[in-house]
Amino acid sequence: MTDTELTSGDFTESAEPYRLFAAWLKDATASEPNDPNAVALATVDTDGLPDVRMVLLKGFDEHGFVFYTNFESAKGREILATMKAAMCFHWKSLRRQVRVRGPVEIVSDAEANEYFATRPRGSRIGAWASKQSRPLESRFALEKAVAEYTARHAIGEIPRPAHWSGFRIVPSQIEFWHDRPFRLHDRVVFTRAADGGWDKDRLYP
Ligand SMILES: Cc1cc2nc3c(=O)[nH]c(=O)nc-3n(C[C@H](O)[C@H](O)[C@H](O)COP(=O)(O)O)c2cc1C
Repeated sequence: MTDTELTSGDFTESAEPYRLFAAWLKDATASEPNDPNAVALATVDTDGLPDVRMVLLKGFDEHGFVFYTNFESAKGREILATMKAAMCFHWKSLRRQVRVRGPVEIVSDAEANEYFATRPRGSRIGAWASKQSRPLESRFALEKAVAEYTARHAIGEIPRPAHWSGFRIVPSQIEFWHDRPFRLHDRVVFTRAADGGWDKDRLYP
């Protein structure tokens, strides 16, 4: 199947999900006004209460879907407690949705370091200065922390904080949805099979 076919209504014929996701993300990159890689990330807390927020997808391949965050944030603690998560992309301009769910791995230190080094200097300082998800006394307290870490790392490379790294959702399921008239949408779900391949099912809309 060609990439053009993958992005057309024939997506339900696709035999595996990664090339299809790559084609849809490419389409979204061309058509979304900003952040085509923005994705809602769902976790559960220790009471089983769901939690959801946006993150940016920073990598994907046949090993899974990667994003970066503060491991001491709410989402970081929730994932570290369960090692499970789900994601939902919605590209409004394309009327498409992709859902991903599965167990979570921590990316290697080498992978996290490599990505951290590509971030703008201000973002690397921010990773040190922000105690993400914990109460902040005032905007001034944050600016003070930024100034302190800027001074501390005035010279040389800024190392990656140990509490800042990446998670990889290793999908057990990936579902593709495309809007069709009268809410009779196309849905296809790929489920990991025991032999490492994918089972594919169409779903009622
Ligand atoms: C479009 C968008 C992208 C975001 N990307 C990230 C991200 O990649 N990593 C991150 O930690 N927070 C990101 N955020 C902020 C999160 O949505 C959230 O506010 C923050 O991570 C704290 O979430 P938590 O308290 O549930 O851990 C993003 C927010 C938006 C709106």
